[in-house]
Parts: sequence; structure tokens; C-alpha cells
Amino acid sequence: MYKTGWIVNGPNLNMLGFRSKEHYGSETYSQLMDSLINYGKSLNLELQAFQSNHEGEIIDKLHTLVKEKCDFIILNMGALSHYSIAIYDALEMVKVPMIEVHLSNIYAREEFRKTSLFTKLCLGQITGFKERSYYLAIDYLAQLEEK
Ligand code: DQA
Repeated sequence: MYKTGWIVNGPNLNMLGFRSKEHYGSETYSQLMDSLINYGKSLNLELQAFQSNHEGEIIDKLHTLVKEKCDFIILNMGALSHYSIAIYDALEMVKVPMIEVHLSNIYAREEFRKTSLFTKLCLGQITGFKERSYYLAIDYLAQLEEK
């Protein structure tokens, strides 16, 4: 059976391709999401992608995922990862497995990026492998047994 999941992306990730390639890789947002969705299909995962630059819109999206069928979430909340208690509170309601990803290595950059509020709510965090960070999360979720 297909497992269905969402990739939820926060501020500025729509600008991939225009942001620092050293940190974030060279693919555009739509190139990356399209290839992740196709990769998911090859592993029997039905993935959908969401992105917003607005904290409240992300919270509204998470609320729908609390209520609708959704088997897992891959999240990259961008800068909100470092400070958004409101998103933390929304994620706390989500009962499905979550993996936090970052394209860049948040521990090898500025001090203010070294904390993510969300890691403790997630199965784990994958950080620093540019686009591959997302693929590694998909690989893990694809082999996760359903409870
Ligand atoms: C990011 C890291 C964040 O610190 C930054 O604000 C981003 C992207 C990453 O994927 O490496 O926007 O989440």
C-alpha cells in the first residue's frame, strides 16, 4: 500500500537556485520537489510538497495534516527552525513520524543556526547534504514499518 506524506518547507526555500549554492545546492525549488516526488513514487511513497514564506500559513497547513490522512512529514522550516515556538506547538499535535532536514550543515554556520527547536519532535535530523538531505529522509521513511 502507498504511504502518503508531505514535504513542508518554510521561508525562502522557494528561492532555491537563487540562494547560495555552496549552502543550498543548485536546483530550483520546483526541480527539487518534482524529483523528490518522483523518487518517492519509485519507493511506493506518495509525496506532496508545500512551501510558504508565512509562519501562519505553515501553521494552518500543519493543522490540516493533524486532521487528514498523512503518514509522515519531512520538514525544512528554514529560519523558523531556529526560533518559532508557534510552529513547535503545531508540530507537537502531529502524531505521525517526522524527519527534519536542512540542505546546509546548520552546525557549521552562524551560531544562531545551531539550535533547532523541532529536532526533539522528530525521529531525527539530516543536515548538510544539500539536496541529498531530503532523499536520505525519503529512504528512511520508505523502509519504516507501519505500526
Ligand atoms: C536551512 C537552514 C536555515 O538556517 C536557513 O535559514 C534556511 C535553510 C537549510 O535547509 O539549510 O533557510 O533550513
